[in-house]
Amino acid sequence: MRSSPVSPELGAGRVTERVLLVGMMGAGKTTVGRELSRRLGWPYFDSDAMVEAHSGKTVPEIFEERGEAAFRAEEARVLAEAVTSDGPAVVSVAGGAVLDPDNRRRLAAGGTVVWLRAEVETLARRVGSGKGRPLLSPDPETALRRLYAQRRPVYEQVADVVVDVDHRSAAEVAEAIISELDR
Ligand code: S3P
Repeated sequence: MRSSPVSPELGAGRVTERVLLVGMMGAGKTTVGRELSRRLGWPYFDSDAMVEAHSGKTVPEIFEERGEAAFRAEEARVLAEAVTSDGPAVVSVAGGAVLDPDNRRRLAAGGTVVWLRAEVETLARRVGSGKGRPLLSPDPETALRRLYAQRRPVYEQVADVVVDVDHRSAAEVAEAIISELDR
């Protein structure tokens, strides 16, 4: 883990800060991100939703029609935007974005990176059939296991804060993140 750049005043909301949620598909980045944004009163950004809004297509449509590389280029573009927005923000960073070294640099410079860490069993249960997530087809659990083996060291590397999400609700995870930020 990097040492945390969180300002001591963060809890009182006196400084511009961003919380950047990373982790595997199914870790709960979107649900936790919304909850956190509500609790902190900070704007919320979701990189997948931004890609979809900009392109007018869903993530599966982009993968299908233009391929993964085109999706990753769009992902990098919106991430650069989200981590340089004015003022504090909560950003849910899609699971694969950390693979790109430029994105990792953007995250490191952009705020406090929080890894929502989960067991593969938790991820598999949460993604279900894998609908809407092209990389999980046709067997989500096998795909998650393979992707996690590749990505786990990268999440470890980028994380300022690690929060385990197994057996915890989004509200509990948001609470845990806030108390980490307050330290
Ligand atoms: C991906 C994660 C997805 C989405 C795309 C690829 C990945 O986002 O960007 O299906 O490579 O891990 P979520 O992590 O929000 O599910």
